Amino acid sequence: ATLLIDASPQSAKKIPDTLFGIFFEEINHAGAGGLWAELVNNRGIVPNIPSNIDPWSIIGNESSVIVSTDRSSCFELNKVALKMEVVCDNEGPNTCPPGGVGIYNPGFWGMNIQEGKTYKVILYIRSLGPVNISVSLTSSDGLQTLASSRIHVELEEIELILVSKATNKDSRIQLTSNAKGIIWFDQVSVMPLDTYKGHGFRQDLFEMLADLKPRFLRFPGGSYVEGSWLSNAFRWKPTVGPWEERSGHFNDVWNYWTDDGLGYFEFLQLAEDLGATPVWVFNSGISHNDEIDTLDISSFVKDLLDSIEFARGSSSSTWGSVRAAMGHPKPFDLKYVAIGNQDCSKKNYIGNYNKFYSALKTAYPDINVITNCDASSGRLDHPADLYDLHVYTSANSMISMAHHFDHTPRAFVSEYAVTGRDAGRGSLLAALAQAAFLIGLEVNSDVVEMASNAPLLVNDNDWRFTPDAIVFNSWQLYGTPTYWMQQFFTESSGAVIFPIKVVSNPSNSLVASAIKWRCSEDEIYFRVKVVNVLAKTVSVKISVAGLDASVNPLMSFKTVLTSINPMDENSFGEPEKVTAKEMSFPSASTEMNALLPAHSL
Ligand code: AHR
Repeated sequence: ATLLIDASPQSAKKIPDTLFGIFFEEINHAGAGGLWAELVNNRGIVPNIPSNIDPWSIIGNESSVIVSTDRSSCFELNKVALKMEVVCDNEGPNTCPPGGVGIYNPGFWGMNIQEGKTYKVILYIRSLGPVNISVSLTSSDGLQTLASSRIHVELEEIELILVSKATNKDSRIQLTSNAKGIIWFDQVSVMPLDTYKGHGFRQDLFEMLADLKPRFLRFPGGSYVEGSWLSNAFRWKPTVGPWEERSGHFNDVWNYWTDDGLGYFEFLQLAEDLGATPVWVFNSGISHNDEIDTLDISSFVKDLLDSIEFARGSSSSTWGSVRAAMGHPKPFDLKYVAIGNQDCSKKNYIGNYNKFYSALKTAYPDINVITNCDASSGRLDHPADLYDLHVYTSANSMISMAHHFDHTPRAFVSEYAVTGRDAGRGSLLAALAQAAFLIGLEVNSDVVEMASNAPLLVNDNDWRFTPDAIVFNSWQLYGTPTYWMQQFFTESSGAVIFPIKVVSNPSNSLVASAIKWRCSEDEIYFRVKVVNVLAKTVSVKISVAGLDASVNPLMSFKTVLTSINPMDENSFGEPEKVTAKEMSFPSASTEMNALLPAHSL
């Protein structure tokens, strides 16, 4: 095959600065037990009575300790506290066991406590009279103590700094006593001190996200925004302010509790830390099972306007002052708001959407409003700056969608993925089909302004949706081929793209693009990407006309993502089975030959 590239300046088309970003959803324990570094699971105790204290467990038996919950917490949004009645004593007939009795929390499938690392422990304690309590980080059976502190308290917020003397990936926090008394615990937190910039994001996961150089961050869902029921949907107001004052809520779509440490403020902070523009997905008054009538939507509209004031208002505004009190007096750069998620076919969507749209445009004319309705299959009957399209399909159908956007208005493909048999838990085949699709988006980037893969993260202990880009547990992580594929596109946003013709394309199996971007004052790069979906090596001749002399062919590389079998995946055992390999490419010139391995990008 031959690739004919017209790289003359007059043929160059600018790709939008926002083209490739990431979509973070609280799914698969992506945040709680994932990117959000809080190690305690259910730190505030689920606010229902009788309460599910899971995964808190009891150390001791019914003749030594009785654990229950009541509504005695000092925190208004979550009145439930954990009550521990120690029945044994430090002497007498019912003497407590040597280690004492109490409760422990194993975090999210074990806490990764590391030697020499510092942890901040915060907890609220109340008791009837002064008590001695041991706060310890231990192994999962409690036999190995990694760090410990003994406190003597009655009514207090306790803050402790613990340094671990050993590493154990399956640790827990335990709170124990060996004397009779009644003690209430609430809002127990263990945070490693080395989160990204102290902002609460787990370092290794943050770095993997940052390496994708995302230009936008869509958050916080997905279906998570809608909820199975509106009563469980993500509402931003209870997620801001001090962590311990948040109510937390049940993520009823993906079936787990979240303490909302990763709340609206933290999402905006995450976007800023990643250098990404935030895309705030707001509940349209619609969940999977219930809807607010358009006549009653005004409180939701007000909530949305308040959320923009929180993000962008001055420190003296009502909600801007809450943001400032959280340590961010400078407004966040919020310019994109999506109304709902996959709600277009719902009864009240258009009515509700129009209310949100006009309120937003009146108060904040510069905000881009994104509709859920698909403008690629018909004209919209309502105003929108962008329309949101989700593409979940097979590998073949995704490859064939490379031309889907040839004639549509401004699009945001906020969720795309190859799913089903072709994808497994993250196959090379899925990544190649997605790469072909993304090349199609680059070519159509005069209309497609934004695109993001879904889902981004999965905790290996809670696969709710496959495939995902990054797999992790408490101490390990790896990128699936979809993750490595996205790294081929990290310089595309803001680059220029040139027309490319593929001549003698065997069964249309090659999909290609050519871009150029300035990396620094004196470094300009030119990149040709080609997907070969055939099961055989293809030899290509690449002919580049009109390329300016500033591109230096002596500094050339060839990067290949491939593997023996298209269904190959990465795993904790083999995290780099399918990753991109970079090699020098000395034969680079405006007329060059390259071998494209079978099943490769
Ligand atoms: O990405 C996973 C889910 O797929 C999202 O929550 C939803 O928008 C879509 O159906």
